[in-house]
Amino acid sequence: MIPARVIERKRDGHAIEPGVLAEFLDAYLRGEVPDYQMSAFLMAAYLRGLDDAETDVLVLRMLESGRTLDLSALPGPRVDKHSTGGVGDKVSLALAPLVAALDVFVPMMAGRGLGHTTGTLDKLEAIPGFTTDVSLARFVEILRRVGCAMIGQTAEIAPLDKRLYALRDVTGTVSAIPLLAASIMSKKLAEGLDGLLLDVKVGAGAFIPEEERAHELARKMVAIGSARGLRTVALLTAMDRPLGHAIGNGLETAEAISCLRGDGPEDLRELVLTQAGEMLRLGYPDVAPEEARRRAERGLDSGEALERFRTLVEAQGGDARVIDEPERLKTAAVRRDVVTDRAGVVLEVGPRALGEGVIALGGGRTMMHQPIHPGVGFEVLVAPGDAVDPGTRIGVVHARDEAGGRAGEEVLRGTVRLGEAGEAAPPPLALVGRRIAAG
Ligand code: URA
Repeated sequence: MIPARVIERKRDGHAIEPGVLAEFLDAYLRGEVPDYQMSAFLMAAYLRGLDDAETDVLVLRMLESGRTLDLSALPGPRVDKHSTGGVGDKVSLALAPLVAALDVFVPMMAGRGLGHTTGTLDKLEAIPGFTTDVSLARFVEILRRVGCAMIGQTAEIAPLDKRLYALRDVTGTVSAIPLLAASIMSKKLAEGLDGLLLDVKVGAGAFIPEEERAHELARKMVAIGSARGLRTVALLTAMDRPLGHAIGNGLETAEAISCLRGDGPEDLRELVLTQAGEMLRLGYPDVAPEEARRRAERGLDSGEALERFRTLVEAQGGDARVIDEPERLKTAAVRRDVVTDRAGVVLEVGPRALGEGVIALGGGRTMMHQPIHPGVGFEVLVAPGDAVDPGTRIGVVHARDEAGGRAGEEVLRGTVRLGEAGEAAPPPLALVGRRIAAG
């Protein structure tokens, strides 16, 4: 295998023979192919694509570059979920304890903020003391005791993906469908799961906004999982507007807790219940969809899911008092109400600019390992279709200082697009769209 020939073949649009691709990837992991050659290959793959056989090789080399968890000793099915990332997407925080309360183990390996989106790990760390940096042995112990545990990707899981991901992040090659699919699925296959739910976001705030391409990503991931005996289901869900009202790590954690209390925005509750029903059925395929939904509603409304979350927070070192006293979450110094100065109708709430606004407020990273301010962000109090009058509060900016508050106000005003009274807002995407399963 000569690395330059592999790059040239992909550059010219040819498929790489599986054995040769495997050798190329393994040589990279051993340090025998440098980053500059791998970067060139990734760009060629981004532009020319990878066929199914090549994608399979990539998944397998990533998976086999690290450990696979053996969770078969747990007394129940193991099911995880992965979201491709959206603005205000705090579903996992409420979903994992709810599904654990339904007797399904949820070994969740989650991510940090990526691009314009916040990440589950950063949201959890808005809880004072909460640590997501635990050993695999401790992860399994918490999982056994609580029913769910939430950590980041460890060095032992798919290290080839970890290295390739870091390169993709800085070479403009993240959003290629085969690269995304292989990266996500290699880590999930390493978790030793019985089932996997994929939440594939669609719309302006998603990494892949176009529905057809999002559908292709979903199909590819379902095919990869199913080919390896992992029951995999994907849902396309709306990201043409933010999910819920809160955007920003600590604010989203507070909103997830209010969802666990049976309050909170309706779209968040609906997505949590839909996904919980799917995960229950991935764990217990004989349960009918209506029964799964009923059990999910009962788990949420009885407070069982909230109590699971309390146990999880304690097990991972967090201050569980935040559950009853959300003001104990890390907060920002300045709160600034934003009101309209005219009457009209809300035509659009742009998710991407709000996500980028959180980063500008200091709540996300522009460089790896940068510290973040968990309390900053936005509460958005209007949705497309809402009528407003002069003085209607459209949102609240949470910032570190007055200058941040003013800058945040500009962002919020820019993302809430107002039309004339009586004007119709464009039809929103369905909150839950297509469902993709094997077969
Ligand atoms: N998350 C992943 O795990 N991999 C990607 O490539 C993008 C998001």
